[in-house]
Amino acid sequence: MFMDLCGQRGAWTILLLWCLSLSAADLPCPQKCTCYRDTLEVNCSSRHLTGVPEGLPSNGKRLDLSRNQLKTLARRQFSGLSKLEDLDLSENIISMIEVETFQGLKNLRYLRIKNNRLKILPVGVFSGLSNLQRLDISENEILVFLDYTFRDMTNLQQLDAGENDLVFISQRAFVGLQALKELNVDRSNLTSIPTEALSQLQSLTKLRLHKLTISVLPNNAFRRLHQLRTLQILHWPSLEALNSNSLVGLNLTTLVLSNCNLSSVPYAPLRHLAYLRYLDLSYNPITSIQGNLLGELLRLQELHLVGGSLLRIEPAAFRGLVHFRLLNVSSNRLTTLEESVFHSVGNLQTLRLDRNPLACDCRLLWVVRRRRRLDFDGRQPTCSAQNQHKKAFRDFSEADLPVIFTCRRAQIVNRELQDVSVVEGMSIRFDCRAEGYPSPSITWLSAQQTALSSVGRVRVLANGSLEVRYAQVQDSGTYLCTATNAAGNDSISVSLQVEGLPQNRTASYFSDEGWMETSLPPSTNSSTRVSSPYPFDAKTLIIATTMGFLSFLSSVAICFVFMFFWSQSKGQIKHTATIDFVPRSSMSGGGDGGDTGRFTMKLI
Ligand SMILES: *[C@@H]1O[C@H](CO)[C@@H](O)[C@H](O)[C@H]1NC(C)=O
Ligand SMILES: *[C@@H]1O[C@H](CO)[C@@H](O)[C@H](O)[C@H]1NC(C)=O
Ligand SMILES: *[C@@H]1O[C@H](CO)[C@@H](O)[C@H](O)[C@H]1NC(C)=O
Ligand SMILES: *[C@@H]1O[C@H](CO)[C@@H](O)[C@H](O)[C@H]1NC(C)=O
Ligand SMILES: *[C@@H]1O[C@H](CO)[C@@H](O)[C@H](O)[C@H]1NC(C)=O
Ligand SMILES: *[C@@H]1O[C@H](CO)[C@@H](O)[C@H](O)[C@H]1NC(C)=O
Ligand SMILES: *[C@@H]1O[C@H](CO)[C@@H](O)[C@H](O)[C@H]1NC(C)=O
Ligand SMILES: *[C@@H]1O[C@H](CO)[C@@H](O)[C@H](O)[C@H]1NC(C)=O
Ligand SMILES: *[C@@H]1O[C@H](CO)[C@@H](O)[C@H](O)[C@H]1NC(C)=O
Repeated sequence: MFMDLCGQRGAWTILLLWCLSLSAADLPCPQKCTCYRDTLEVNCSSRHLTGVPEGLPSNGKRLDLSRNQLKTLARRQFSGLSKLEDLDLSENIISMIEVETFQGLKNLRYLRIKNNRLKILPVGVFSGLSNLQRLDISENEILVFLDYTFRDMTNLQQLDAGENDLVFISQRAFVGLQALKELNVDRSNLTSIPTEALSQLQSLTKLRLHKLTISVLPNNAFRRLHQLRTLQILHWPSLEALNSNSLVGLNLTTLVLSNCNLSSVPYAPLRHLAYLRYLDLSYNPITSIQGNLLGELLRLQELHLVGGSLLRIEPAAFRGLVHFRLLNVSSNRLTTLEESVFHSVGNLQTLRLDRNPLACDCRLLWVVRRRRRLDFDGRQPTCSAQNQHKKAFRDFSEADLPVIFTCRRAQIVNRELQDVSVVEGMSIRFDCRAEGYPSPSITWLSAQQTALSSVGRVRVLANGSLEVRYAQVQDSGTYLCTATNAAGNDSISVSLQVEGLPQNRTASYFSDEGWMETSLPPSTNSSTRVSSPYPFDAKTLIIATTMGFLSFLSSVAICFVFMFFWSQSKGQIKHTATIDFVPRSSMSGGGDGGDTGRFTMKLI
């Protein structure tokens, strides 16, 4: 109603005067601005201004000059506005700010120059702003921070310099920022961490580093930032590793390392962060969380690893984490999450397990039993399609649980006695097939009780069989096959007896091609190989001789050619050479031709 009145065309001058007298009784107010007496605010936003208006009220506390066409700011532009606390210059086209522009604004707390066209910040631009607490210079085109740019800003607490083209931060750029708590250099083009510059920021508590192209976080990258509590490293697409001392000296409570290219959890660099409460490793191609490696993060409460490539969280992954209450592993490739990964599931409050190909069996019974108490953050876990019950956990009735969320204990199917006796050099295979739900995993223990792997002379095949190639006497003994799944285990033992061969006998051995006859088994042990009396065979000798001869011939030929040319040029050769050069000084001295220097050298 009031605005309507002011907007009336008829007697607009009178009304305008009246309006102004209402809103700004004793404030002189520039024509294009609106001044509010009660809040001491001057609003000149969106008024197509091309310069800072004249006659701004000297007692104004807030001045809004945003969304205009300001291009440059002159020296001492705002002198006389000593009461000003908040100045907004964002969304203009400012490309130049002169030194000492803000001199005299001794009460200014908050300065916004966001979204302009600044390319450089001359040293001294911010002089006089000793009480400034927040500075926003984001969304400009600033390329470098020079030494001492922020020198006088001893009370600055928050510096927002994101979305610039920063390629370099000079070592002493942050000198004087002794109160700075929060720094944001998001989306800069830095190619290394400005370790030296950052080390000046003794009060820094929060640091965000967005979009840097660094592949390995170096050791001591953040040294001397003793007060830093929150570190966010986001969108570093080439970051593949953290060196083990990269976070040394930090005492963080929040660490975000997301949208990088980490393929494993950086256990070693994190180890000393005993006060860490929040860890976010989302959107990294991490495939597993290993057991017993996070135990030193005593106070960890939340782990987010969303959108990764997690296939498995191993038992005891969170052992020792007594305060752990939130796990967010939405959008991974987990088929299950066993109760045994947690220190105690009683403390778990929030679980995001949605968008994983979950196999609903006894391993997830603990989750579905707690489906009404656990907070799924609005996203119910669902069984994967292969499971025939593609249902949200919420929709299972109590009666469903003992039917669906079950497992069948691993059982070895072919239990016939495998008791084999062979001669040295032969190969044998022992079978071990098991059934159960979920499908059991098979492990073999050697006669010496060591676990056997899928590589080596004695190895476990993909189908669970044990293969012993070129059996040796010391392979003799009892081997144990164990099939394990979530519901239990089953094992059988087999025995192998290898008979030694007298050194001179012919033997037959089994290979991929079938039974072979040989004078000696082809052992991996090279000491038993028959060595021929000569170190090389005939073919090698011929090749070596030919090559030696050819290189001799070519050297001789080159010598002759060289001598020929030398004899031709003899007589015409000059015994001195003159080298002209332009002395350095003439390059900076400007176009008077400069004298050319001259060397004369005698050739021997
Ligand atoms: C100033 O006025 C503009 C509209 O002209 C408004 O959007 C803005 O919020 C005002 N600023 C302040 C600080 O009140
Ligand atoms: C900074 O990076 C952006 C995006 O990668 C690019 O467009 C821009 O040209 C870079 N600026 C400089 C100064 O290198
Ligand atoms: C991420 O790492 C993988 C190998 O670990 C590499 O092939 C890929 O190029 C990397 N991606 C980027 C963006 O560097
Ligand atoms: C680490 O940070 C925590 C939480 O802010 C604090 O209580 C603790 O004293 C700090 N420890 C050291 C050694 O600075
Ligand atoms: C889990 O992560 C997703 C993606 O980052 C996020 O949107 C969601 O809020 C997180 N949930 C919780 C409970 O923190
Ligand atoms: C296991 O695989 C090997 C070769 O890969 C095969 O010869 C053997 O018959 C298989 N054993 C069983 C029990 O299927
Ligand atoms: C097999 O199960 C028994 C209990 O049934 C257990 O004591 C043993 O540790 C298990 N062995 C393995 C290798 O899991
Ligand atoms: C091979 O060894 C046996 C003893 O084990 C010996 O009687 C025989 O003469 C040997 N044969 C040759 C060809 O050396
Ligand atoms: C080769 O055989 C000898 C004795 O038979 C043994 O001492 C040595 O460790 C073996 N070497 C390898 C590489 O297996």
